[in-house]
Amino acid sequence: MAAPCLIVLLLPLLLAVAASHPGHEFCAAAGGDAAGCGGGGDGTRILIKGGTVVNAHRAEAADVYIEDGVVLAVRPNIPVGDDNVRVIDATGKYVMPGGIDPHTHLAMEFMGTVTIDDFFSGHAAALAGGTTMHIDFVIPVNGNLTAGLESYKQKAASSAMDYGFHMAITKWDDEVAREMEVMVKEHGINSFKFFMAYKGSLMVTDDLLLEGLKKCKSLGALAMVHAENGDAVAEGQQRMIDLGITGPEGHALSRPPILEGEATARAIRLAKFINTPLYVVHVMSIDAMEEIAKAKREGQKVIGEPVVSGLVLDDSLLWDPDFTIASKYVMSPPIREAGHGKALQAALSSGILQLVGTDHCTFNSTQKAFGSDDFRKIPNGVNGIEERMHIVWDSMVETGKISVTDYVRVTSTECAKIFNIYPRKGAILEGSDADIIILNPERRFVMGAHAHHSRSNTNVYEGRKGKGMVEVTISRGRVVWEDGVLNITPGSGRYVRMPPFGHVFDGIEKSDAAYRSSLRAPVQRGKAAA
Ligand code: URP
Ligand code: ZN
Ligand code: ZN
Repeated sequence: MAAPCLIVLLLPLLLAVAASHPGHEFCAAAGGDAAGCGGGGDGTRILIKGGTVVNAHRAEAADVYIEDGVVLAVRPNIPVGDDNVRVIDATGKYVMPGGIDPHTHLAMEFMGTVTIDDFFSGHAAALAGGTTMHIDFVIPVNGNLTAGLESYKQKAASSAMDYGFHMAITKWDDEVAREMEVMVKEHGINSFKFFMAYKGSLMVTDDLLLEGLKKCKSLGALAMVHAENGDAVAEGQQRMIDLGITGPEGHALSRPPILEGEATARAIRLAKFINTPLYVVHVMSIDAMEEIAKAKREGQKVIGEPVVSGLVLDDSLLWDPDFTIASKYVMSPPIREAGHGKALQAALSSGILQLVGTDHCTFNSTQKAFGSDDFRKIPNGVNGIEERMHIVWDSMVETGKISVTDYVRVTSTECAKIFNIYPRKGAILEGSDADIIILNPERRFVMGAHAHHSRSNTNVYEGRKGKGMVEVTISRGRVVWEDGVLNITPGSGRYVRMPPFGHVFDGIEKSDAAYRSSLRAPVQRGKAAA
């Protein structure tokens, strides 16, 4: 693991400074912000010259001028102006919106331990890999959403880049329903996740999911699902134990694709019944992807999110005789056998799947060893926040599967649009936050724990080689990654509020009205004869 240089030594001091400035701003997203939101506020001026600026809608030869954390101009031949402007030469390189990772778990308490990457090391890794914003999942405390949010605000005090929150729903009562409304209206959370697996801890039953879908719809919040049949997974796990299969391979064998396909189909149908949009996180199998494709063909609003591990890895190393190697690949739903990844890549390039996440949820080898004699105790999760932008470029753009504009769409813009923070995020346009990367398509990389910024001592992409490197990352107008050096400050990240009723809700009222008028009911009848 690479030492995050000087920053580690300064961490206690910097954290103290951050704590004394509790203004960890909660900024409204789509324009019209409160003072202090939007820009970095430190007067930094940067001119990126000579690159190809890529947005999801087009790529063009242009310069980008940034002041105070905001993009002020995007056009060819912007003059340098004065000496206080830092000029960055991007000739031969792509200038793109920083990545937005829609799915992470930093400092998450899970399976008896806590993920090794917190909001500081996770952000160091993200920025070094070209991701400038992520959305993390708040886990309620004993089902209580307010307590969960408070706990995540503390965790995020060390943040070094912008972040937003989704919120998990783990129990149901009137109080939870009321708190959901408070989360949306007062705290800028516009999405709620329902785990259909992890029986006995996070799992929800169908009746809870139905209540949750109804509430999400009424609030204009997006319902998200972890789609695996948790009851059947429990049965599959017991089956493996009974067969004497206790190693990491038992994890994959106990929860086959059919269980992901079943839960995905069920969630899609329940969302259709309620008539509310649905976001399926970490789509790992052909089975789940095909359910999404079918629903989309029928006009349903379903968003499918593959994660990098599912796109480029296969399950073979779960059978490795070395437990440390095998266990690092344990995540849920499992990384599937060869073939699924390529199918998911094809679905991503054809638009069946829409945006790429990571499900970054890292545990080191000591934590993974909690399950050395029982795969059910191996903490589930893999790394990816630092690798996502490079892997998607190398495996999708370098191979000709997607264009550079589509690259920006699936790594940044789509996420900003779905979660209603576009064009402040996800674009290089006048007025957008200056979250920008400069990628050199000719530079090669080798991934691994020796070079990464995660605190984990393992990496599921160990030894992976590829082409296309993020050489510069700019986070809200500050150069935070350049020449392989990070320059970040704990406490400098900002919370990004995400307003409800994003574009995925467009048309819901009209389709509800069409449904009601299609009922041809209630029928007016005379009293039936006795
Ligand atoms: O294995 C995983 N995916 N760990 C993180 C929790 C989740 O299910 O997203
Ligand atoms: Zn999940
Ligand atoms: Zn997850």
